[in-house]
Amino acid sequence: MSPEQMLKSFPDQLDWEKNDTDLSTYRTITFCGMGGSGIVADIAKSWMEHRGCKIPMIVHKGYGLPNVVDGEEHLVVCISYSGNTEETLSAFSEALRRQATVVCISSGGKLGELAGSNGVLNLEVPQGFVPRFALGFMLSKLLCLLGIDREELEDARENLKSLYENIKNKGEEIAQKLYSYIPVIYSTPLTEAIAYRWKSQLNENAKTPAYTATLPEMHHNEVVGWENAELRNKLAFLVIFDPKDNDRVRARVDITIKLLKDLGAVPVVLGGDGNSYLSRMFHLIHVGDWVSYYLAGKYGFQPLPTETIDRIKREISKL
Ligand code: F6R
Repeated sequence: MSPEQMLKSFPDQLDWEKNDTDLSTYRTITFCGMGGSGIVADIAKSWMEHRGCKIPMIVHKGYGLPNVVDGEEHLVVCISYSGNTEETLSAFSEALRRQATVVCISSGGKLGELAGSNGVLNLEVPQGFVPRFALGFMLSKLLCLLGIDREELEDARENLKSLYENIKNKGEEIAQKLYSYIPVIYSTPLTEAIAYRWKSQLNENAKTPAYTATLPEMHHNEVVGWENAELRNKLAFLVIFDPKDNDRVRARVDITIKLLKDLGAVPVVLGGDGNSYLSRMFHLIHVGDWVSYYLAGKYGFQPLPTETIDRIKREISKL
């Protein structure tokens, strides 16, 4: 499948299915996953927090598990598209050792096998994609596990479909502005996960360094770096926000834009388009996906291969 076909399939990957898991029985939820699978956890956690979930949630990107996970009242969700990522496999074994309740999301691989042999539920997603382009499949499984209503997921999908041409065009327009600069994506608490998705997509598809910082924290450090004009001129700034961000955060978004304009560094400013937080997140995610696709083209890169990641995985597996 071509990268374009994978990208285009995002709205259709968003599919609701019934899941009767009762989350109220858990004291914590820990989501484990790396890279294109880990971002699924970041997005789901933001969505859960926005809808008022009171269960403490942790996104764990690494080996083992946080200390708090201990026993069956702790839910651990291990997400690995390939099912072969060693950090996630390590979290899975540790979760079994600590007798946590475990659910996996994968297309198979070792994680799928281990889930099967240990009587653990594996919510299976289709094979044949690269992980970052299977976001919709993995996210649908996770959101359904977390209890999303059918209507909310389907509305968000239809919103994406209705904005489709606009999203692609926006992606191309922004890619043009980023070309030959290092993208720096500024976000808010409600768009932090999205900015990280943008960064990762720019890294992996467009083979471009990219960095993020989040409001309000960045108003206490990052902004001083702008005083270095020699380096500032190598950066292209983006500001991503959500209309439901805290009022003080929105005021800080406006100040950020004003200060950057005063420095002559006109930022690309983008708010999600949609009636729900989920719709707006999907909208922003998909604009970023297309930006990375068009930017790859401008640099003459194929979006799919990630040779450096593959090389590191090979080297570490020998140790
Ligand atoms: C590749 C990609 C990577 C992988 C990561 C973990 O498309 O996006 O970031 O997602 O190396 O691999 P999986 O997702 O198979 O656990």
